[in-house]
Amino acid sequence: CGIVGYIGQNDTKELLLNGLEKLEYRGYDSAGIAMQNNNGMRLFKVKGRVKALRDRVDSSIHATMGIGHTRWATHGIPSEENAHPHQSASRRFTLVHNGVIENHQELKKEYLSDVTFNSETDTEVIVQLMERLCAQYQDTAEVFRQVVRLLKGSYAIGMMDAEDQETLYVAKNKSPLLVGIGNDFHVVASDAMATLNVTDQYLEILDQEIVLVNRNNVKIQKLDGTAVHRKPYTAELDAWDIEKGTYPHFMLKEIDEQPIVMRKIIKAYQNENNELKLDRNVREAIKACDRIYIIACGTSYHAGWTGKQVIEKLAAIPVEVHVASEFSYNMPLLSAKPLFVFISQSGETADSRAVLVKIKAMGYPALTITNVPGSTLSREADYTLHLYAGPEIAVASTKAYTAQIAVLAILAVDAAQAKGITLDFDPMQELAIAANAMEMLTDQKEAMEDLVVNHLEKARHAFFIGRSSDYYVCLEGALKLKEISYIQAEGFAGGELKHGTIALIEEGTPVIALATQANVNYAIRSNVQEVVARGANAMVISMKGLEQENDTFVLPHVHALLTPLVTVVPLQLLAYYAALHRGCDVDKPRNLAKSVTVE
Ligand code: G6P
Repeated sequence: CGIVGYIGQNDTKELLLNGLEKLEYRGYDSAGIAMQNNNGMRLFKVKGRVKALRDRVDSSIHATMGIGHTRWATHGIPSEENAHPHQSASRRFTLVHNGVIENHQELKKEYLSDVTFNSETDTEVIVQLMERLCAQYQDTAEVFRQVVRLLKGSYAIGMMDAEDQETLYVAKNKSPLLVGIGNDFHVVASDAMATLNVTDQYLEILDQEIVLVNRNNVKIQKLDGTAVHRKPYTAELDAWDIEKGTYPHFMLKEIDEQPIVMRKIIKAYQNENNELKLDRNVREAIKACDRIYIIACGTSYHAGWTGKQVIEKLAAIPVEVHVASEFSYNMPLLSAKPLFVFISQSGETADSRAVLVKIKAMGYPALTITNVPGSTLSREADYTLHLYAGPEIAVASTKAYTAQIAVLAILAVDAAQAKGITLDFDPMQELAIAANAMEMLTDQKEAMEDLVVNHLEKARHAFFIGRSSDYYVCLEGALKLKEISYIQAEGFAGGELKHGTIALIEEGTPVIALATQANVNYAIRSNVQEVVARGANAMVISMKGLEQENDTFVLPHVHALLTPLVTVVPLQLLAYYAALHRGCDVDKPRNLAKSVTVE
């Protein structure tokens, strides 16, 4: 979910709506804003997109203070009632919240058993508690502090009091929140992206802090009331990076940016002498460990599997790859000296963070590989490696995935060097070759669109098969297709299909096979024959040097360890055009959110 707030001298409407549009990638089930002026509090909520909210908001209202929210439903279905902001019974307090209040049932029972709730959300408990406790304390700031102290779980909160036109009340724990500083105004946002058009100066807010934001000053306090002083930092986001420009969708723009990102990574991770340049502490940590545990979700998890291949093959360090939400509650036996590597585009994914908190408490070292260096996972880990991919806005991750693989390859080489292993692999040169190959592929969009029109557009389901490192790209290719085109798709290890799933192959079922690995080229082609014999419509994407007659698409040659960087590009484009031709919302697929900040 996304939060934006404003207090200042100008009208807040446009800033809130524009901010919510920028935050929509965080969730878009429903949206709302509340604005306060001398005539009182005005609230507008809709089920659906910010665009619908824009149509709903009364444009004649002028207010210099307000809060807004775009939601990804957790407690309660997407509906107008469950949309934020929420209000207390008398409407005195109005509040937006990201996160999950874990003890909301207990709080309801203990303090609010006689209150009629207007929504099914855990959030409403907070605002009703404000009203319940407000008679007991002197001022709203104190009530707010007492209420926040009762909350267990994750929260980023923005609140207004109808009896106070001077203050925005803000609190944070585990969910991201920043306060932006302007000339005679302040903003609140869950991501600087939301308000970058008005300021690039931001104050970081840490967990279990409360902030009282006035037009001219910001007071940060700990939960016990101790004042905190902190200097603002400059957000290094380029406003252009968060615009689509001439592209119809962010996803297409981001697919096209992949070669540029590769070159940025090459530049960032080498010195003037073209030698690898990595944080020395990371090198020491790798040297000291006996096993690496990669923890991630979604697309980042898939990048982790390719990371395992490169690290094990180049640096000879055993690597395990785990889905964060499983690892958290079902931890495997750990080695004596583990090093945890968190891969996360956003650096905010709650499932991954839950693992980070656990393993830090156990005293283990952690490295985060992320696209957002100031993010929660970055701050809380011992070390960070930056992806340099630039903001990724489309919900379906593309350039972050390839950036993760590139950085993992660099990490693998650095680890090999640290261990004194001599390699016949120049990562920067190989990445540069891969970048050129990616460019050749992004220039061949029409071929991918034709494939979709001829074979995928009307498909009910599809399979991706591959062996060795192709297999992990198949998982990612299937995920891309599912999440944006809603075609049911699965990625399978080529040899495993025949042990059950082949039963699903019917006349015309699309099967996309990757064939880029010399040692399994024969084997994967046998698997293709098996599905063709059962009526499948097979498309083989192979690599120069390994191609055979009738292959659907032949990719330029790149180093065997880096093939995922190029094999994924046609799969991203297939998913993109499938979604486009099926009339789906490419950048904002149903039910999803870019950054999932709840467990
Ligand atoms: C969400 C997104 C996915 C993403 C995953 C992990 O589910 O929809 O695209 O891969 O979170 O996100 P992270 O920011 O941790 O890489």
